[in-house]
Amino acid sequence: MPIKFPFAKGQKEKELQPLGLDHTQIPKHVAIIMDGNGRWAKNRGMPRIAGHKEGMGVVKKVVRYASDLGIEVLTLYAFSTENWKRPKTEVEFLMKLPVDFLTTYLPELIEKNVRVQTIGDFDVLPAHTKKAVEEAIERTKDNDGLILNFALNYGSRFEMVDAVRQIASKVESGELAKEDITEDVFSSELYTSDLPEPDLLIRTSGEQRLSNFLLWQLAYAEFWFTEVYWPDFTENHFEKALYDYQNRKRRYGGV
Ligand code: FPP
Repeated sequence: MPIKFPFAKGQKEKELQPLGLDHTQIPKHVAIIMDGNGRWAKNRGMPRIAGHKEGMGVVKKVVRYASDLGIEVLTLYAFSTENWKRPKTEVEFLMKLPVDFLTTYLPELIEKNVRVQTIGDFDVLPAHTKKAVEEAIERTKDNDGLILNFALNYGSRFEMVDAVRQIASKVESGELAKEDITEDVFSSELYTSDLPEPDLLIRTSGEQRLSNFLLWQLAYAEFWFTEVYWPDFTENHFEKALYDYQNRKRRYGGV
């Protein structure tokens, strides 16, 4: 049956056939920079936080879709270490989003066998954010379906500097010899040490940069960009990203 594929603003909606994903080639780890909430809201004469609220509903849809497809890890960039520079009211709203999301959807996440995790500097988050997220982590810790990994107060450069510090301490204490520092050792000191590296990075809203997201981990990932703002991102866009991913040749530097 033909499906509707919503294109970016200004483009005509076309009817497309289902893309025919190869279900044996689903990426293990998809990372998403959910960008464009503010512009989406501005275009409608609404406050920026209205875009974030709408974006939360899209998170629910992509989590369902990823879980149903058998993706192993979905990492979502929810708050960067640079986002503290935003107006106080917006920061407060962004810090409440995980609380609202988990209050509403935790039962469904549990039912769908989703495991909630985070990466980032968790300790400095507001108490109510930490409490909601910690509860979700605890209540889903035995689930072995999709890992829903929120990057919260995450910054890749800080993560790497922190890893260097851990390694330096181990060298200083004699636990690790300098010659034994390898890429694997470095990776094992990152927040993502227990996760496969992302295969696919999606960024919405037309921006084509990494914004301090998973700089080390994305070394061999495929990148997929769309002009669509995050609140307008649908399962059809996700399917198209996966379809394009499946039609790329990953050579990892070989021929
Ligand atoms: C970037 O758009 C988006 C964010 C900084 C926040 C992303 C958060 C969500 C999509 C909701 C997250 C939901 C949960 C459950 C944690 P922007 O504000 O930079 O947009 P702009 O570039 O148009 O201003």
